[in-house]
Amino acid sequence: MSKYVLNVVNVSKTFSAHQSTVEAVKNVSLHVGAGECVGLVGESGCGKSTLARLITRLEPVDTGEISLCGEKISHLCGAALRRAYRNVKMIFQDPRSSFDPRMTIGASIREAIKASTALSRRERAAESVRLLCEVGLDASYDRVYPRQISGGECQRAAIARAIGAKPRLLICDEATSALDVSVQAQILDLLRTLRRQQDMAFLFISHDLALVSSFCDRTYVMRGGEIVEHGPTGDIIARPKHPYTQKLIGSILAP
Ligand SMILES: Nc1ncnc2c1ncn2[C@@H]1O[C@H](COP(=O)(O)OP(=O)(O)OP(=O)(O)O)[C@@H](O)[C@H]1O
Ligand SMILES: [Mg+2]
Repeated sequence: MSKYVLNVVNVSKTFSAHQSTVEAVKNVSLHVGAGECVGLVGESGCGKSTLARLITRLEPVDTGEISLCGEKISHLCGAALRRAYRNVKMIFQDPRSSFDPRMTIGASIREAIKASTALSRRERAAESVRLLCEVGLDASYDRVYPRQISGGECQRAAIARAIGAKPRLLICDEATSALDVSVQAQILDLLRTLRRQQDMAFLFISHDLALVSSFCDRTYVMRGGEIVEHGPTGDIIARPKHPYTQKLIGSILAP
């Protein structure tokens, strides 16, 4: 078994639109160890979400290789691909857009449980309520639709759905950016608790270095599609080497 739940090696992705091309991800290498919490930080448009979409195979890579729990995924398809991705779940910035508006929250969670476990219908119903309680929502949320609850509640439900699959890696792409500061703090507390309780690794993506540094053991700094610096978060904050990282830190220390 590989010591990495995620290993990204020399991955690149270029988009072509009309006459222009964008090198969104350039020769990026990054890894996440089992149970490790890794941050990916950088300004808007630097390629963070594209990298997350490559990792989750929502987009194909141009070149390079991605492995999940030691298994290379670029050549996988069908059932083998679905099996590899049982180990990975993702939480997005806008939780509402990741739920089917025609399904209740409970139905969405049960569907995710069905896709990744062998539980019976009755067990799935009980598990859905248990997961809602675990993220601080009560059983009544099982029967509501995404439009009937707040953004923070919807993000909790998205986390419940993700952890229901017992992933080894949870990718959070700006998972708290759309929430107000107090709800953001509650969601981060919830993620910290889950981190302690479950042997789950995180790839925590944000433009906010302060947030990443409060949450992650190691951090990668991305700029213009490239990783410009990486290392233990404490070292990056205390002794940033790249001028861009120094600028990022300057901006969070500024009054
Ligand atoms: N499907 C696409 N087609 C064309 N260009 C794209 C596509 N997806 C992303 N891009 C471009 O790739 C670059 C990186 O975008 P990406 O969404 O990965 O940035 P980001 O770091 O996640 O930004 P943000 O912090 O605003 O979410 C941008 O220039 C974007 O316009
Ligand atoms: Mg993004």
